[in-house]
Amino acid sequence: MSQLVDRPDVAHPATYGAGVPFAEFARMRRESPVCWVPEPALWRRSGGGQMLSQGSGFWAVTSHEGVVAASRQPELFSSGRKGAFLPDPRTTADLEQARQLLVNMDAPQHSRIRRLVTAVFTPRAIRALHDSVAAHAHALVQRAVRRADCDVVTDLAAELPLLVLADLLGLPREDRHLLYRWSNNLVGFDDPEYGGGNVEAYRATFFEAFQYALTVAGERRRSPRDDLMTLLATSEVDGRRLSDREFCSFWLLLVVAGNETTRHLISGSVLALLDDPAQRERLTREATLTPSATEEMLRWVTPIMQFRRTATRDTELCGQPIAEGEKVVLWYVSANRDARVFDAADTLRLDRDPNPHLAFGMGPHFCLGAHLARLEAQTMLRELVPHLARFELTGPVIRLESNFVNGVKSLPGRFTAARR
Ligand code: HEM
Repeated sequence: MSQLVDRPDVAHPATYGAGVPFAEFARMRRESPVCWVPEPALWRRSGGGQMLSQGSGFWAVTSHEGVVAASRQPELFSSGRKGAFLPDPRTTADLEQARQLLVNMDAPQHSRIRRLVTAVFTPRAIRALHDSVAAHAHALVQRAVRRADCDVVTDLAAELPLLVLADLLGLPREDRHLLYRWSNNLVGFDDPEYGGGNVEAYRATFFEAFQYALTVAGERRRSPRDDLMTLLATSEVDGRRLSDREFCSFWLLLVVAGNETTRHLISGSVLALLDDPAQRERLTREATLTPSATEEMLRWVTPIMQFRRTATRDTELCGQPIAEGEKVVLWYVSANRDARVFDAADTLRLDRDPNPHLAFGMGPHFCLGAHLARLEAQTMLRELVPHLARFELTGPVIRLESNFVNGVKSLPGRFTAARR
């Protein structure tokens, strides 16, 4: 007798502790690529007590075609109206605070603020970082291999983006551990080990991070340097400096977006290669595949699984009517497995070409750090892959409970001695 098995809830953060529910996304793409998903009630801690909090529900866009269509119409599917994150802002003040963040803005404010830092992230500017990124990656991998025991997440995947960010922002390298903690607390809000759904702890993290940033901004205004902190603290938009709130928000977005994402791309790539020794051996033999392998890893891992939009008026998407004000969630992680666009979508192909993945989003909010993320991931793969044949797992792989970031918290293992 066949049994009814509950479907995984794609909206629930805990679902992802067991991995991305790819089969469920495949069913959604097949049956209804724009479908309504109710949101689960989640426990939140605030003050002394606990409360249940439940979102409005949303239109889940799971096909490549749907995600592209919505991303190309920012005037219909807004980032600013309710922000770009799945949870609804709790109060008007929260919404107003959220709108200080670039990712939660619409045109024309969005393009004015984004322009401030685009020069720092152009392919040319990023190429200039090549040697320092390579030196960091080399040192990290050599140290891990020498020590034999290592956690790929904390010792390698997290460290490289943090070191690069500290250099770029002009912060002391030892402060990268603060950036790591803040970012875990914010992105890991739903994870029991990190944020634990604690609203006060979440706010306290913002406060601590903002205090830190304001202190550095004051120092840079007094004695400017050639770093991104100085640029943000002193640049003007429309004849005026960023307010403290605007400055802090932009800074924190760069810190979080610049370290979590690339961390999970690197750890997810290592996991994929450990799972597929034939592909790992091929990449070891053919290092020239590294750029296309990185694109495939972006598709395969999709470190940021979704961003949210809000319909600005009654409209439709892929034939599905959508009412003004409704929440629309763009599931990049599903679009990147859409068989209508990718041959053998559930197979890792390191030489996939073309590879029109949506891991960096699309449209006006296309990831500002894409060139930097590619440089970091390619550099780490080049350094690490030759050693991976000697790497074996020594403990469980622990995944982040998040419906936003496809992340691994711990990937412990050992580099065994080289065979003579
Ligand atoms: C594998 C690594 C990365 C992935 C998968 C990723 C993914 C994304 C995605 C999907 C968006 C689109 C947001 C939207 O449409 O609402 C985005 C935006 C953004 N990313 Fe990344 N990102 C990565 C690395 C980075 C890095 C290294 C930085 C900076 C150091 C960065 C900074 C940003 C910023 C500032 C935005 C907002 C752009 C805007 O709203 O105009 N990202 N990223």
